[in-house]
Amino acid sequence: MNKNRVGYLEHEGVMLTEVNSVISTSPPGIFVDATYGYGSHFKNIKEKYPKFNLLGFDRDIDILNTSSIVNLNFSQISDYLNENKIKQISGILYDFGVSSHQLDNYSRGFSYSHNGPLDMRMNQNDEIKAYDVVNTFDEKLIASIIFHNSGEKNSRRIAKDIVNSRPIESTQDLVSVIKNSIGKQNPKYIRQTIKRCFQSFRIYVNNELNEIQLSLNSINKFVKSNGVIVCLTYHSLEDKIVKNIFNELTTSCICEISLPVCTCKNEQQYCYGKKKKIYPSDEEILKNPRASSATLRYVTKL
Ligand SMILES: C[S@@+](CC[C@H](N)C(=O)[O-])C[C@H]1O[C@@H](n2cnc3c(N)ncnc32)[C@H](O)[C@@H]1O
Repeated sequence: MNKNRVGYLEHEGVMLTEVNSVISTSPPGIFVDATYGYGSHFKNIKEKYPKFNLLGFDRDIDILNTSSIVNLNFSQISDYLNENKIKQISGILYDFGVSSHQLDNYSRGFSYSHNGPLDMRMNQNDEIKAYDVVNTFDEKLIASIIFHNSGEKNSRRIAKDIVNSRPIESTQDLVSVIKNSIGKQNPKYIRQTIKRCFQSFRIYVNNELNEIQLSLNSINKFVKSNGVIVCLTYHSLEDKIVKNIFNELTTSCICEISLPVCTCKNEQQYCYGKKKKIYPSDEEILKNPRASSATLRYVTKL
């Protein structure tokens, strides 16, 4: 990662202790960090567990300066493993969403509290920016993006006002449109609405939910016996996808409950640990408020 860039700050990875604990019993071999970010989890696991050979991925091209990191979407990791004749991995960690590093670099357009261009692409080579969504998509589609990615109940009104306020050039222009759209409300409600709209556009621009689905469904067959899949999620849409896939992986029969006999031939591949979900400690939340929305889920291969 380019540490000379303006705005670079060293951040501590979320739930490092808990991540270290759930991967401790994984067998030696290649351990994948699917979301390298600023490398905090990666470095921590590397230092603590010499038994693992760390392999890092991130879609953000700013991270390319770190030579050992592969610049790919995590939905492409299974293709990468196949192409490189890697048959098995000891485990994989996903730390979803946007990094503090991306948020703190206002020129990336992720932050609603500072001005920047309407970008929000995690990979700066991707075609669609938030600018395109806000300035060229039709009203119904914008409303649906906001509603489906955040449940925002004013989605239709906000979409209408976005379309009527074009061109919207910057993050702060978008913030003003949203504020005007919802009118006089308490500041917390206004902030939450803006946050939900920004999150919706970011999820859409980066195809975030499909990426999670595709990656988890294709990676699970690579994990060795006793290896783990660990996910850190930050909102309910991410968490729901992980929960559903983990439920399928840890169940032997996925037939409709009304069927008298099993026809699915599904085999249980993974099991849950002692706890299905783990949350950050109060001390961590105090030190790093961005950890407050984190949920850790993991499953172990049988
Ligand atoms: C929360 S940060 C990870 C922080 C990291 N665990 C650390 O300790 O520094 C999420 C990272 O995942 C990357 N990312 C998000 N979606 C991705 C995807 N579909 N494929 C690859 N990388 C992705 C983002 O670019 C970002 O750098």
